Amino acid sequence: MTSPEEQAALQLLERPRQSVDDVLRHFIDSLELPETLHHAIEYALLGGGKRLRPALAWYAGVAAGGSGAQTLVAGAAVELVHAFSLVHDDLPAMDDDDLRRGRPTLHVHAGEAMAILAGDAMLSLAFELIARSDLPAEQKLALINELTCSTRHMIVGQVHDTLGGFAPDLNDEARLRLIHQNKTGALLRASARMGAIAVGADAHTLDALTRFADCAGLMFQIVDDLLDVRGSCEHVGKRTGKDESAGKLTFPLVLGITASEKEIERLLEQAKQSVASLGERAEPLMVLVEYLARRTR
Ligand code: IPE
Ligand code: IPE
Ligand code: MG
Ligand code: MG
Ligand code: MG
Repeated sequence: MTSPEEQAALQLLERPRQSVDDVLRHFIDSLELPETLHHAIEYALLGGGKRLRPALAWYAGVAAGGSGAQTLVAGAAVELVHAFSLVHDDLPAMDDDDLRRGRPTLHVHAGEAMAILAGDAMLSLAFELIARSDLPAEQKLALINELTCSTRHMIVGQVHDTLGGFAPDLNDEARLRLIHQNKTGALLRASARMGAIAVGADAHTLDALTRFADCAGLMFQIVDDLLDVRGSCEHVGKRTGKDESAGKLTFPLVLGITASEKEIERLLEQAKQSVASLGERAEPLMVLVEYLARRTR
């Protein structure tokens, strides 16, 4: 049973999801690629996914006084980097997962070499999409700058998550926040900022949206950690109950379930407060972030 709040959020997600899927489909169909690579990209990119990053870009653009449609290139580009990050995250050398979005992971479906190469391709396609768009040159540069920096942060987060390599004086909680802010928070921050940049947001609005996304991004990964502990693999669409045995630093492991839930509520309130000054235009972001806190998949 879906609650009225969830219903409202799902309705909000629908429009950006359809539009961004159209952009991504059209883009990959326009490329000259070996059929096997085209198929692999299609499998990883267009086979489901909540499309939360494009939705964040869309409604950040709306909150900044623009239209969602203006943010589509930005949203599609972030989704390409996100899809690449998931394919590589699932590889045997990384999290070694066999299920993603309710289906076999790409390396199980198409082999490890193709999964590595399709991931590489999606990373570069994100930038090609922006470069070939008809946005003004100055905006393209700003979007590319946001996406390259956030991708670097995501990779830094993945290195800490997978291999450690922390500065010597960090305790577990500090390490955990560093991992989560980077591996997941950075792309969510970029989604909101790129949506705002795409509609020409002023500095005050960009700052408010950045603070919003920083809270939402950390919150999002704490929810993901909790889903790993208590979600069923059928419902979530990926293997659950794996983080602890894989030795991952997670919020439930370091702080416990109750403190993790409290931290989610704190970040949710802080996210909402960050954009309160933007007034009614930020209403969809409030609905969206509430959904991110309550999601069960
Ligand atoms: C999963 O992200 C990976 C994390 C950063 C936790 P999503 O939960 O947004 O995955 P999809 O795109 O909906 O499959
Ligand atoms: C993934 O974190 C973060 C990135 C893909 C960058 P997780 O490893 O927790 O994500 P899931 O649980 O596999 O989706
Ligand atoms: Mg991982
Ligand atoms: Mg993983
Ligand atoms: Mg996880």
